[in-house]
Amino acid sequence: MEPKTIKRIGVLTSGGDAPGMNAAIRATVRAGFYYELEMYGIYRGYEGMINDEIKKLDSKNITHILERGGTFLKSARSAEFRTQEGRKKAYDNLVKHGIDALVVIGGDGSLTGAHLFYKEFGIPAIGLPGTIDNDLSGTDSTIGFDTACNTAIQAIDKIRDTATSHDRLFFVEVMGRDAGFIAINTGIGSAAAATLIPEKKMPIERLIERLKARTKAKKQSNIVIVAEGGKSGGAAEIAKKVKKQLPYYDIKVTILGHLQRGGSPSSFDRVLASKLGVAAIEGLLQGKYDVMAGVINHKVVYTPIAKAIVGDKEVDEDDFRVAKILST
Ligand code: F6P
Repeated sequence: MEPKTIKRIGVLTSGGDAPGMNAAIRATVRAGFYYELEMYGIYRGYEGMINDEIKKLDSKNITHILERGGTFLKSARSAEFRTQEGRKKAYDNLVKHGIDALVVIGGDGSLTGAHLFYKEFGIPAIGLPGTIDNDLSGTDSTIGFDTACNTAIQAIDKIRDTATSHDRLFFVEVMGRDAGFIAINTGIGSAAAATLIPEKKMPIERLIERLKARTKAKKQSNIVIVAEGGKSGGAAEIAKKVKKQLPYYDIKVTILGHLQRGGSPSSFDRVLASKLGVAAIEGLLQGKYDVMAGVINHKVVYTPIAKAIVGDKEVDEDDFRVAKILST
């Protein structure tokens, strides 16, 4: 497409916050200034677009934010933006501020919003994958995923101390919505006894067999990672089923929850967010609209948002195999 003239870009974060969102905002805004554009912050995601929480940004706004977790622009899940009326209000506010392009940082729901908005009003938009879940196609890793895995692994290392000291069996539930990326990575990185992910159903009998075999092998501690959203139920439910069949185990359940969403971004997430922020501005200036910028094999790629959000990214078979081999 022939690039439109772009002078003012609005940037927003939407959906669940993810470590590295601030780094992505900073890179987007810095790159905007580099290309002599005016940059606007849209606060509270699409909610703020609808409620006119839009402010011009200067370099002071983005000083010392790269290393901070969360998002200084704040985030929200907007029900009103799902309605056409809400989107029209949002559009009118963009027109009021003369904003002619958008950078949307968020997960699949947020990028769906950008896609719809582009289709309805023709506002050039680029999405950046900002979610701990890593469930977007068109990028090897989403911004926040690496940090979330590191946080989960550090937490599990601590849980292991108790598991070993008390000969306990722990079920640790990690986030990921319907996807098992955090779980499988965390399982490998924390030497889990088993990892249960939504994509691959493990029958309870197989889990019981695995745990029995580990008891026989006199394993010091047992930690089972359970992805939230799994069809076999959450950690508490699975723990109950196991307790029925293995009553001699002292079983505990830990749900890591929002602990995984906060904290300073890892080096990996900072670099990824920085590359993608620059890619967002350069993509818009080159006329790449309605696409998500991602990194595949260390190279920036632009994928149509409609493709990125389709939900077909799969947990690598190799990762699954490695997790299995190492847990026996
Ligand atoms: O999408 C990120 C995520 O943290 C998911 O892993 C989780 O299912 C969901 O958001 C939780 O959302 P909320 O913070 O709105 O409860």
